[in-house]
Order: sequence, then C-alpha cells, then structure tokens
Amino acid sequence: MSAEVIYGKQLAETIRQEMKEEVAQLSEQGIHPKLVVIIVGEDPASQSYVKGKQRASEKIGMNSDLLELSADTSEEKLLEIIKELNEDKSVHGILVQLPLPEQIDDQKVIEAIDPSKDVDGFHPSNVGRLMTGQETFYPCTPYGILVMLQRADISLEGKHVVIVGRSNLVGKPVGQLLLNENATVTHCHSRTKNLREHTKQADILIVAAGKAGLITGEDISDGTVVIDVGVNRVDGKLTGDVDFESASEKASHITPVPKGVGPMTITMLLHNTIKAAKWIHQ
Ligand code: GUN
Repeated sequence: MSAEVIYGKQLAETIRQEMKEEVAQLSEQGIHPKLVVIIVGEDPASQSYVKGKQRASEKIGMNSDLLELSADTSEEKLLEIIKELNEDKSVHGILVQLPLPEQIDDQKVIEAIDPSKDVDGFHPSNVGRLMTGQETFYPCTPYGILVMLQRADISLEGKHVVIVGRSNLVGKPVGQLLLNENATVTHCHSRTKNLREHTKQADILIVAAGKAGLITGEDISDGTVVIDVGVNRVDGKLTGDVDFESASEKASHITPVPKGVGPMTITMLLHNTIKAAKWIHQ
C-alpha cells in the first residue's frame, strides 16, 4: 500500500483564502480583527515562527503587531504589557511565543492573558472549557489536526486514536478534542511500556514526541492514518517524528514534514483571532 499524502500546506492556503474573504466582510461592518504577537529574546526558531504568524495575518488582511522584547525583559514588565493589551479594545488576540526566558514563569504569563483574547487556547479557563466540551479557543496545532482529518473525510466516530506525546501544547489537547468527536483515545508517552503494541492498534496515529524517526513502518498496521507533528532538525534538515518512507508503505494517509501539520497551526491561529473579534462584537 502506498499512502495518500495529506498536505496541510495546500489545505491551509484554501482556508486562508476563505478567511481573507471573511476579514473583508467583517471590515465592511467596522470589525477589524487584530492579533498581537509577543516574543521575548532572540531564539532563531521562535523568531522564524512569529514572523510566519505575522506574515500570514497580514496576507489575509488582518491587523497584526509584533512586539519584540529583549531577552532580559522582567516578568513584571511582560505582565504589565499584557494588562495593557487586555484593556485595549482594538486588540482581539494576544499570543506570547513560548518558551520564555528562565526569569519569566510561562504559566503566570498564560494566566495573565484575558481568556477572551487567548487565541492559543492555553489559559486554564479555556483548557477547562475544552475538557467539558464547551465552545472555546482550541489550541492551534490540535485544532489544525482535527480540521485536516475532517477535510480529508476521515471519520473519527468510534475510531481508535493513539497519541504519542503528552505535552500541554499538543498531546493532551488533541486527545481531548478528538474524544469530544467520539473517538476512542489512547495516550502514550516516554514511560509507556511496549509502545509498538499500542501504536499497532491505532486507526489514527498522532505522533508528537519531538524525537526524529521514533515511529517507522514496523510500528504501524496496514491502513493506519498517520499524523506527524514532530519538528526536528537533523543535519540542518527539518524532519518529523515518523520515518516517512517506511510508514507510507503501510499507512492509508500520512502527513509529511515539512508542509504537513505546521501550516495548519498558523491557519487556526488566524481562525481563532477572527472568532475572538466576532465574539467581542456580538
Ligand atoms: N511555541 C511553540 N508552539 C507554540 C504555540 O502554538 N503557541 C505559543 N504561544 N508558543 C509556541
């Protein structure tokens, strides 16, 4: 079997075109969705991510500000900036790029953002809403995975989804999101015994472990849908957590790295910002 490749990049383009039209319509009603992205320090990977987020916002006609703060910014100063943005009615979405330098407590910052502007969906109040199946901002990468599966016509109801990785950014929320869609969800992680026994049981396998080549064709059964969330650099080359070549011989569908899940993350961030703007003006 040779897998059908699901290109998030193409799908992201389609959805962004739809959102561009929506932003133009909102603009006619006097609503101008605005995202503010904050980066602290000069980590090259984080800088490249936030520039991508800002470029994508501008491309669909959305207002976007990038606040670049020096690596020695104090926690107090960052919290003060967030407070001002919370109060600024022209700002609909606030995103603080993680991780933050060690003098700043990530969780304190996440909790300082007004939940109604938390377009990352990381605030405990929004995490709780997701857990209880209420409407909220869903974290962007998990939400991007859900939309990819839906648009590829892969049904979730009753399917066994196996997730490798239990981060707050991806592993945990994607499990919850798919559980809400009536999937049966198994979470695996670094302490899981006999990982292969679990991955072989998957109808849909989501790998977000941050370990290049962790999953190969031997770890999956014929006909599995494989979603690779890994972003690793090996010899300067971007690569996922899944060995694409061997896995695509067995999978029914597979996402590549790059051009797979990554572009969907930014797309869902834009979606969440538009949603925030619409909520405020309801
Ligand atoms: N760092 C890596 N991924 C993300 C993300 O989705 N949101 C934020 N705020 N920081 C990140």
